[in-house]
Amino acid sequence: MSLQLDARQRAMLAEMGVRVWTPEPAPAPARAEDAPRRAPPAAAFVPAPVPARDAAGENPESIANNDYSTLGSGKKESKTAATTRPAVVFPAASIASVPGPTAALQARPPGIAAMDWPALQHAVAQCQACGLCQGRTQTVFGVGDVSADWMVVGEAPGEQEDLQGEPFVGPSGQLLDNMLKAIGLSRRAGADAPAAPGSPGAPASLHGVYIANVVKCRPPGNRNPHPDEVALCDAYLARQVALVRPKIILAMGRFAVQSLLQTNEPIGRLRGRVHHYQGVPVIVTYHPAYLLRSLTEKSKAWADLCLALEVMQQAGSKR
Ligand code: URA
Repeated sequence: MSLQLDARQRAMLAEMGVRVWTPEPAPAPARAEDAPRRAPPAAAFVPAPVPARDAAGENPESIANNDYSTLGSGKKESKTAATTRPAVVFPAASIASVPGPTAALQARPPGIAAMDWPALQHAVAQCQACGLCQGRTQTVFGVGDVSADWMVVGEAPGEQEDLQGEPFVGPSGQLLDNMLKAIGLSRRAGADAPAAPGSPGAPASLHGVYIANVVKCRPPGNRNPHPDEVALCDAYLARQVALVRPKIILAMGRFAVQSLLQTNEPIGRLRGRVHHYQGVPVIVTYHPAYLLRSLTEKSKAWADLCLALEVMQQAGSKR
């Protein structure tokens, strides 16, 4: 794929800290799965040390000690006819008030895989399947165009997300928005997307994207989510993916990747090829919070976005 960048996209890449170089022409790969990483020459990027682990001793590919936040919901559902159905109200007995480790799975409401948007959002808002419910201000469901071709999956809300109820609203969210804008996407674009408060809406040139996290409640102190917390929450994400029916998923960060692909392989080993979740192509990339700390990795994230664009073009996407 030859990527044509206009002045706005170049400005966005500059915002990401990525300097664009015109690569030597190279033969296109036969299949997306064969596509090499599209990283620009190393000399194009500002070198910076990459910490083996961050200050909290967590994997640097992940989010620990990052600030972030949350949001809303898919307010319409144009890909299913279920929007008009009333929200399901779960009997009090189906939700444990103070869940313990063994009660957790039983406490999750039944029928998640068949829920429509209102029921799913209600179920998430009421969920007490793990201890994270005890520290949350609110759940962070998802934001964007519920009919989008693109879906971004992050890890878990941070402080700002917990307060605002929207995913990715802290600094890592600003970087994510810039990355998305560089490839023509906006969480505020699309027929089903919520308008930004006080704004006329996203430019018509941008296409929609739906953004959700694997874990819907903020882990205390922005610690990494525990495996059982991820496991208890992933049915909600699975249903979101099934309802959006995206044409491509960007999995950002270790926990998103682990949840979607059920693997413990590091991101560096999973990047650069196409995986699948529910039959949807998945591109693995670094979490924006990690990119904020590791400037040299931004070029790799850009290469991942280019691979995603290529997969979409090969699939004959409308965008
Ligand atoms: N990081 C995430 O993975 N999700 C958010 O909502 C914010 C930061």
